[in-house]
Amino acid sequence: MSYPFFEVENLTKRFGGLTAVNRVSFQIGRDEIVGLIGPNGAGKTTLLRLITGILRPDSGRVRFKGKDITGFKPWAIVDQGITGTFQITRPFRRLPIIANVMVPCLCPRALKRGEWVKKIEAKAQDALEFVGISDMALEKASSLSHGDLKRLEIAKAIATEPELLLLDEPFGGLNPAETELLAKSIRRLHKGGRFGRLHSEGPTMIIIEHKLAELMKIVDRVIVFHFGEVIADGTPEEIVKDERVIEAYIGKEVI
Ligand SMILES: Nc1ncnc2c1ncn2[C@@H]1O[C@H](COP(=O)(O)OP(=O)(O)O)[C@@H](O)[C@H]1O
Ligand SMILES: [Mg+2]
Repeated sequence: MSYPFFEVENLTKRFGGLTAVNRVSFQIGRDEIVGLIGPNGAGKTTLLRLITGILRPDSGRVRFKGKDITGFKPWAIVDQGITGTFQITRPFRRLPIIANVMVPCLCPRALKRGEWVKKIEAKAQDALEFVGISDMALEKASSLSHGDLKRLEIAKAIATEPELLLLDEPFGGLNPAETELLAKSIRRLHKGGRFGRLHSEGPTMIIIEHKLAELMKIVDRVIVFHFGEVIADGTPEEIVKDERVIEAYIGKEVI
């Protein structure tokens, strides 16, 4: 029997009286690159935290390649092949940048695949090279600019070789040049090939982002959240024309 690559079904999360994620269902196919948009407080980050195991849903299921992974701990989720990056970056500031990337290389997923510890440094260096900060590998993470910290987050995530990569506002706080550079890395990563000795295919991706112009250029599908519910799901072209989306989020003046 065939099953969706990734699926959430009726996922619900309440914080006291507030329903942050309300019976959300969608499916994503292998190789898709999907944008997740919506106003502040719509529940996007909460959904990502439910998927990555940081939060447990009150009800509903999360399935990955047919397996029910609902309620798995964060490290078990990474082990299945799903990794997320965070809106707020929290590096080990006093450690070298490369050490920050070596830490996730020690996850069981990477080790099980026969990554000997001595190879981890080379792999971390590869990940830094991919995002374009390998020349700073030996500097302390505290020396990184905000833009480079965002790139470090992605290097840490790809070092685990995820099949599904979730990015929470990767362009947040970046200037247009930094945004463009990171968008290029993301596109290149999704196409696959250069990074990852074990996968020639890039990861499937879900990207939460407010910078719609940049996002629309890299995704092939957009899911729109509003008050914890999916109000639209379609191609970028369909989404920017959707009356409910314009009303709830985009605003008429933008288009
Ligand atoms: N840990 C929490 N405790 C209580 N309320 C929360 C918590 N996390 C998020 N919320 C609330 O849930 C709603 C959705 O938040 P969030 O998922 O961060 O939205 P978004 O990422 O779309 O801006 C907001 O009203 C927010 O205040
Ligand atoms: Mg958020």
